[in-house]
Amino acid sequence: IDNLLDSAKQVLNGNFQPKGFSIPCDGLYPFQWNWDSGFIAIGFSHYDFEKAKSEVKTLLDAQWSNGFIPHIVFHNESDSYFPGAEFHKSELSPYAPKDHKTTGLTQPPVLGFVLEEMYHIHKNKDEVLAFVKNHIDQVFNCHKHLYEHRDPKNEGLVYIYHNWESGTDNSPMWDEVWETMTDIPTYEFERRDTSHVDASQRPSNQEYNYYLHLIEIAKAHNYDDAKITELSPFLIQDPLFNAMLIKSNQALINLYEIIGGETEKINTLKAWNTLSKKSFNDKLYDKELKAYIHYDLRNDRPLRHVSSSSFSPLFASVPDADRAKEIIDNLMTVFGKEEFYLCASFDPNSDKFNPKKYWRGPVWINLNWIVFHGLKSYGYNELATRVKNETIELITKNGFYEYFDARKEIHESGSGGYGGNNFSWSAALLIDLLK
Ligand code: DGY
Repeated sequence: IDNLLDSAKQVLNGNFQPKGFSIPCDGLYPFQWNWDSGFIAIGFSHYDFEKAKSEVKTLLDAQWSNGFIPHIVFHNESDSYFPGAEFHKSELSPYAPKDHKTTGLTQPPVLGFVLEEMYHIHKNKDEVLAFVKNHIDQVFNCHKHLYEHRDPKNEGLVYIYHNWESGTDNSPMWDEVWETMTDIPTYEFERRDTSHVDASQRPSNQEYNYYLHLIEIAKAHNYDDAKITELSPFLIQDPLFNAMLIKSNQALINLYEIIGGETEKINTLKAWNTLSKKSFNDKLYDKELKAYIHYDLRNDRPLRHVSSSSFSPLFASVPDADRAKEIIDNLMTVFGKEEFYLCASFDPNSDKFNPKKYWRGPVWINLNWIVFHGLKSYGYNELATRVKNETIELITKNGFYEYFDARKEIHESGSGGYGGNNFSWSAALLIDLLK
C-alpha cells in the first residue's frame, strides 16, 4: 500500500504545472480540465494543501463574469490537443475573462463537494475555512447561473448542451441524439487524440463531426444561453450532471452553515435542492428499468439506457431508502456479475457495450469513487468495499490509466488499462480511497 501511495503521489506531482494547475495527463490533455481539477484537489488535500488550493483557484480564476465555469482553461499553448483555444474562441462571449482563454462548455459541477471534502480532509480548520470563505460564493454563482439559464421549464433539472459537458463524452446514450442531426456539414479537422492513444479506444471521426457542429452553433451566437436553449439539437437533462449539482448544493449549505450568517443563500440552495430532487424522482426515474435515466429535452423523450451514471443519484441522496434498494438490487444484476469489475460505464448486456472504447464500457475511477460513496451513504458497506477493492486491484494490476477494461479475463496479462497513462484523477482518488 505504501508503494502504491508513493506512486500515486508521483503521478500527481508529475502532472502539476509551474502555473499552479494540473494536466489530466501528458500529451493527450495538456491544459486544465474542470472536474479533473476538482478530483485532483481532493487527492492533493491529503498531503500537499498548497497544491490543492492552487488547483481550485486556477480554475476559478477563469470563471466567466456570469458565473459560468468552463470545462477547459487553456493556460498555456500546446499543439498536442484538438480542438484548442483557437477553435473554441471563448472571446466571442461578452462574459468570458479577458486574461484567460477557455471553452464555452462546462463539466459536471463538482467544486461544491470538493470544497467540503477539502474541509474534512485538511487538519488545519482555520486555514481551510479561510480558503473556503474566499471561494464559496464563486461556486454559488456558478450554480445560480445553471439554474437561471439552463432550466427553461423551471423544473430544477439543468440541461447540458454538449456531450463534453456530461463528462461521459461518447456514451452510447448520445447515439440517439446524433441520429436526429441529419444534414449537418462535414467539417475538416485534424484530430490529435488518436496520435496519443489507439483509435479503437477513442470516439470516431463521425462523432467528432457532431461534437464540433454543436460548438459551431453556440459560437455563431456568441455562446448566448438563450440562443443555445432555442437552437441546440443536443439539450439533455443528465442524471450524473444533476446529481453532482445537488450534491454540491448540499455541500454549500453545510459549509455556509459552518461559516455562519448566510441565511439567504442557504435558503436558496435548499429551495433548489427540494425542487431538483422532486423532479429527479418524478421525471428521471424509469420504473420499468428500475433506474434513473437521461431525458432528451430537445426531442421530449427519455433515453432509456443504464450506465454507471445511473448510480450517481445515490451519491446525492436523491432516492429514498426503498428506491435506493430497488436501484442497487437491479443495477447489481446488470453491472455486478462475477466476470466483470465494478463498474462498467455502460450496460454490459447492451449490444452497444464496447469494453475498450472510452465511455462505451470501460471502468472509470472517478465514477467508481462516486459509486463507492453513494453505496456507503445508504449503508451498503459490503458492496462499497467491493467497489473500493476492485478499484485498487485495477490500478495495481495495470497502472494509473485513464480507464480500464471491465472484463476480468483481460487483466490476466496486465494490459487492461486504456487511454492516457499516469492519469491524474486515477491517482488522486486512489489516494483518497486508501486513506
Ligand atoms: C476530450 O478531448 O476527449 C475531452 O474529454 C473533452 O473534454
